Amino acid sequence: MKRTMIAANWKMHFDTSEASILIHHLNKVVPALRLIEVVLAPPLLTLQPISNEIDRRKFRLASQNAFFQDEGAYTGEVSFTMLRDLVHYSIIGHSERRIYFNEDLPTVKNKVTACIRNGINPILCIGENKAEKVAGRTKQVIHDQLTTAISNLTGHEVSDMVIAYEPVWAISTFGGEVAQPTDIQKILDYIRFQISELFGAKVAQNVRILYGGSVNADSVSSYLALDGCDGALIGGASLKYLEFAEIINKAYILRHQS
Ligand code: PGA
Repeated sequence: MKRTMIAANWKMHFDTSEASILIHHLNKVVPALRLIEVVLAPPLLTLQPISNEIDRRKFRLASQNAFFQDEGAYTGEVSFTMLRDLVHYSIIGHSERRIYFNEDLPTVKNKVTACIRNGINPILCIGENKAEKVAGRTKQVIHDQLTTAISNLTGHEVSDMVIAYEPVWAISTFGGEVAQPTDIQKILDYIRFQISELFGAKVAQNVRILYGGSVNADSVSSYLALDGCDGALIGGASLKYLEFAEIINKAYILRHQS
């Protein structure tokens, strides 16, 4: 049975003590839930201390990034190999990485490959920007980002991964336009269709697909209610523990209604 994933992307917020305080609150307000998997992606520096502070029945950790070489002379980088005992997941190809740090399709593919090589599950982010949407190129962009990123993988490896559809124009930092759930449904279906074409229906059924882009406690249910939406990747609204707990609660209610 697939668990609904609610993932928090803290981005570059919180130093070690601020992160500890937030974990202290989250440990208290979030219950352990069988059908909901809550994943926290804090800044890299805080991963180590947080790993000792989280209630492991309630939370799993993700990195927001890592480099695709396992070790070597790469000043400033941290590898998936170094993270393997610390995290279950790694966010890869987030639009902020693609836009601000020029991560192109081959780089994202190499990161997905390295992530899996090191026993970490990727949360692969894909999504079109506003200009691509306006030009009617959404499906082409999704196709290219998805098929390149998973081109080195087996069906078994794809089954275990998580894909987050995050239209760039809907992410709070890039404009935060509210995406209509009916529009999102079409792309979720398209992603699953692409995976099914490449790896078959069973793999397509197993892979978890999340939605991300300005999701908050008010809007989360409308996205999670979509057919084949297996969770949400949350930025801004995950920084406030009460709102994040409310999002988790909404996911719980929805899972127990269905
Ligand atoms: P947002 O960020 O929820 O603040 O839009 C989502 C993301 O960037 O993953």
